[in-house]
Amino acid sequence: MKTIRWGIVGTGTIANRFAQACNNTPGAQLVAVASRNKKKGAFFAEKYNIPYSFGSYEEMAAFDGIDIAYIATPHGLHADNAILFMNHKKAVLSEKPITLNISELERMIAAAKENDVFLMEAMWARLVPGTKKLIEIVESGILGKIKGIQSTFSYDMTDEPEHHAFDPQYGGGSILDVGCYCLSFASWYANSEPEKILAVAELSEKGVDIHSCYLIKYKNGAIASLSSGMTVRKPNEGYLFGEKGYVYVERSYAPQEIEIHIEGKEVEKISCPYFGNGFEEQIMEASECLRQGKKESDIITHDQSRLIMHQMDELRRQIGVKYPVD
Ligand SMILES: NC(=O)c1ccc[n+]([C@@H]2O[C@H](COP(=O)([O-])OP(=O)(O)OC[C@H]3O[C@@H](n4cnc5c(N)ncnc54)[C@H](OP(=O)(O)O)[C@@H]3O)[C@@H](O)[C@H]2O)c1
Repeated sequence: MKTIRWGIVGTGTIANRFAQACNNTPGAQLVAVASRNKKKGAFFAEKYNIPYSFGSYEEMAAFDGIDIAYIATPHGLHADNAILFMNHKKAVLSEKPITLNISELERMIAAAKENDVFLMEAMWARLVPGTKKLIEIVESGILGKIKGIQSTFSYDMTDEPEHHAFDPQYGGGSILDVGCYCLSFASWYANSEPEKILAVAELSEKGVDIHSCYLIKYKNGAIASLSSGMTVRKPNEGYLFGEKGYVYVERSYAPQEIEIHIEGKEVEKISCPYFGNGFEEQIMEASECLRQGKKESDIITHDQSRLIMHQMDELRRQIGVKYPVD
């Protein structure tokens, strides 16, 4: 198996989780890290045993020792950071949400096509064993047709008001931060396009959504009831309601246990742990795509990213959240 050489862009929270996973993924080698600050980059490189570190993103983009860059910067920077690397003929795995709006996403996809390089959104949750199992369960028909979906991802970070997650310039707000998981969860199991979207939200003084609730009616009749938040703690869980029964999962977007409730039968619990910290599968998927010369994953497609981005644009339009790039 050809080893794929990875470089990480940014040294924050999620870059750390990714570095651990990359060091734990067969066929992937963590070769470089880039930080805006040379010392931070060197510290991160030492922590994860990474051979090269750079004090700017541009330097790593020009380095020919990596095949693919993982973009782990605030979402408002994903488009520019990803395009920088793609213009240097590097493949890109970009953190979620892949961009702030559909026009940025189209700019990113155009850059991938112009440079003939691979591009994928790091929607890791789609690839974990629990999600694959849940898709299998739904496709098996034991629940019957899916009529209803619920998913909530809402936490409280009121004690970090200066975080970029609250800043409109960086695409702040709960819909882009974690609502993308609820929307993705609903779309995987509804397996249909939205016909109607309705949203309500509480906005912060800076104008980003800090607590949002939304309904999606899909063309096939299924209805999803979803909620994301940054200032209110709610149980992060999900349900799929079918004609013959329902499924309950904790952390709906990336479950490690599935509870199946079918009328007249004992509740069945299925355990489906991550391979490591949950990020390994996406590293394997992107690495395998590169080995096969693919420019896009068959599972996390550009169109799937577009589908969710259009929904986030519409939700923001309805609740009145506008970013400087819109
Ligand atoms: N997949 C998941 O489960 C998951 C979970 C959390 C977050 N995320 C996503 O990952 C991305 C990063 O989130 P995070 O929580 O890791 O953020 P973070 O801890 O703030 O780290 C972001 C990193 O980006 C770099 N950066 C470049 N320009 C910056 C700027 N103007 N302000 C702040 N940082 C800047 C910094 O690294 P240097 O200073 O070293 O350049 C910083 O450490 C976001 O898009 C988020 O949605 C994904």
